[in-house]
Amino acid sequence: MNKILILYYSQSGQLTEIVKNFAIPFVKSNNYSVTYANIEPVKEYGFPWKGYEFFDSFPESVNRIPCKIKPLDLGDEDFDLIVFAYTAWYMSPSIPSNSFLLSDQAKRIFKDKPVITLLGVRNMWILAQEYVKNKIAENGGRLIGNIVLRDRAENLTGIVTISYFLFTGKKDRFLGFFPKPGISQKDIDESEKFGEIIKNHFDNKTLENLQDNLLEHKAVKINPYLLSVEKTAAERVFKIWANFILKKGGPANSERRTRVNIFRWYFPFAILVIAPLKYVFFLIFAPFRIRKSREEVKYFSQVKLMSNL
Ligand SMILES: Cc1cc2nc3c(=O)[nH]c(=O)nc-3n(C[C@H](O)[C@H](O)[C@H](O)COP(=O)(O)O)c2cc1C
Repeated sequence: MNKILILYYSQSGQLTEIVKNFAIPFVKSNNYSVTYANIEPVKEYGFPWKGYEFFDSFPESVNRIPCKIKPLDLGDEDFDLIVFAYTAWYMSPSIPSNSFLLSDQAKRIFKDKPVITLLGVRNMWILAQEYVKNKIAENGGRLIGNIVLRDRAENLTGIVTISYFLFTGKKDRFLGFFPKPGISQKDIDESEKFGEIIKNHFDNKTLENLQDNLLEHKAVKINPYLLSVEKTAAERVFKIWANFILKKGGPANSERRTRVNIFRWYFPFAILVIAPLKYVFFLIFAPFRIRKSREEVKYFSQVKLMSNL
């Protein structure tokens, strides 16, 4: 009997639904046992979000500062395959998911184990995954597969619809005509196929070429423009803002209220003004960086870690 552990944290239930569909082939099989482990923060992040709380979670997300989480009730159990399912917050793993990665329990659970990452995000996740890759390796795990389910709406439309979803908790059409928010129900329902692929590779002991097969089934899509936005935002601009806010204290500290509120104004400005400008520059310079762009798409689609990009 092969033992699969699925770690996840989901607020609205979207990622939970993905996880449950993904696991169907393993649950149906007599050769596998599936254990779900729901990561739970001691102090829950409210859902639907309130405006201030949403932006107050920004500095800790960006600087990857953990919150307190409840220990998972797994005893000393040993698993054959770990699935780490997570969402991205401000281009980083969500604070509860990151808190697990930084825990002592993660060191024990990941050590010498094959790991699959399964993401349920909007569309900016690449640098979060790069960080997660590093943490899995530091914890002694071996990343063998990555699957990313994302919102397929165009970037600005997706920002409108996900904001509606996160602030109301509703997954219907905003104003009656916007597309439905988040990951499409079709993609969520079809995530079972990725579980099937992984199960086949596990059964046939061919895990070394698992990611290539997952890519053939469109498990990951890299958008070079969004990657360039991530690089500017997550690696530079977000860090400056996060450190600026953190100088006034930790989560919910009233001293940092003014700075969080300034950021609250800056954020839509960045999305509506800076990001489209960046798109124009991206298009102008795109012909000069075709080779680099191809290399990046290839690298970030894969599960290996490299430091020279
Ligand atoms: C505070 C916050 C920040 C987010 N930032 C991003 C982001 O940078 N990139 C992204 O693709 N999705 C982002 N999302 C969307 C989440 O990754 C996720 O798809 C959504 O919250 C639904 O997840 P759930 O299953 O936990 O409800 C963000 C969500 C929240 C709550």
